[in-house]
Amino acid sequence: MKALVTYFSKTDNTKKVAQAIYEALPVDKEIKPIQDLEGAAGYDVVFCGFPVYAHSVPEKAQPFIKALGKGQRVAFFSTHGSLRGGQLPRQAFENALGLAAKANVLGHFGCRGKVNPRIIEMLMQQQENRAWAEEAQSAEAHPDQADLEDAKAWALSVLTKL
Ligand SMILES: Cc1cc2nc3c(=O)[nH]c(=O)nc-3n(C[C@H](O)[C@H](O)[C@H](O)COP(=O)(O)O)c2cc1C
Repeated sequence: MKALVTYFSKTDNTKKVAQAIYEALPVDKEIKPIQDLEGAAGYDVVFCGFPVYAHSVPEKAQPFIKALGKGQRVAFFSTHGSLRGGQLPRQAFENALGLAAKANVLGHFGCRGKVNPRIIEMLMQQQENRAWAEEAQSAEAHPDQADLEDAKAWALSVLTKL
């Protein structure tokens, strides 16, 4: 059994979650930034992480997700400024599901990630970003230790589905 943990991360929030997942996996495993990969061939399961951008998957993470082969087992994780469990981050996961049309998606995990306060201030002025930017003001301590523990437990629960 070989697992791949891969991620796109601009400000390291998603990278921290990726590293926690990687540490938790009790199987043969690798961790690589998504930009360094050609594809997912040869891995029994892929944990694929990205920050939510504009309620969706960042462009840089999309080619890898679109190229996931038929039946490839994948589980998505993301970080986002908005509140956990809300409709906005769920929309990003649904978009990832649509991109991974041929893959076998085993689940998803999301937690909050801090956003630079100056970026929040700017985005609050934009109608399309105001909702999540307002929520993101209280994300500054995330991902925290509890988020990382949740991510680890989730990763182990994904393995039980194989
Ligand atoms: C360009 C941009 C767009 C973003 N769009 C959203 C969004 O739609 N919803 C949200 O909850 N957070 C949004 N965020 C916040 C990021 O998802 C959050 O800070 C994330 O943890 C960043 O992850 P990283 O450190 O791995 O890059 C956005 C951030 C940026 C820079």
